Amino acid sequence: MSDQRLPAVHSASQLDFISHSPAQTERVGQRLGEQLRPGDLILLMGTFGVGKTHLVKGIARGLGVTDLVTSPSFVLVNEYRAGAEHGAMPIYHVDLYRLAGAADLATLGLEELWEGRGVCLIEWPGRAEAMLPHDRLVIQIEHLSETKRHVRFVPHGARYLSLISSLRGGS
Ligand SMILES: Nc1ncnc2c1ncn2[C@@H]1O[C@H](COP(=O)(O)OP(=O)(O)OP(=O)(O)O)[C@@H](O)[C@H]1O
Ligand SMILES: [Mg+2]
Repeated sequence: MSDQRLPAVHSASQLDFISHSPAQTERVGQRLGEQLRPGDLILLMGTFGVGKTHLVKGIARGLGVTDLVTSPSFVLVNEYRAGAEHGAMPIYHVDLYRLAGAADLATLGLEELWEGRGVCLIEWPGRAEAMLPHDRLVIQIEHLSETKRHVRFVPHGARYLSLISSLRGGS
């Protein structure tokens, strides 16, 4: 793993969408979800109520999840099960906003979540930054108006570069 960042490459490879509704944000998530594989790590950035959980709902739908997707609260991690066509892999939906302190972070066992069995989606990942691997897909959501959002995908590492190029190609 390298700390070397290549800003020019990242900016050329990033992908931007404007979403005009919660349903459209979910559809963007669904297209991404269809392509995810065990070991994938996705960080969802953006302020309160911007649409991170809506995007996760779409990702889950794309993975054939039939469980109800809700915001992780006291437990910090919700686990769903992908559909058979995605190997029924686990999907870990993490929200670190309510993380109380470093002790909590240590007891959560987060590392296991991105070590290959399933897909890991993290809202408010900042608290865990020091333990997160370099390779990840960052999704930044910005509020443009009451119903409009700017959704930006920023890939870090070869796996996510190829994921974004296949999303861009509409495949
Ligand atoms: N284009 C849009 N995409 C997503 N959500 C939208 C959009 N327009 C309006 N909304 C509304 O914004 C809110 C997004 O809520 P959501 O729980 O997904 O946000 P969040 O980023 O997960 O918040 P939190 O930081 O509290 O976890 C919902 O009320 C949704 O209806
Ligand atoms: Mg949320």
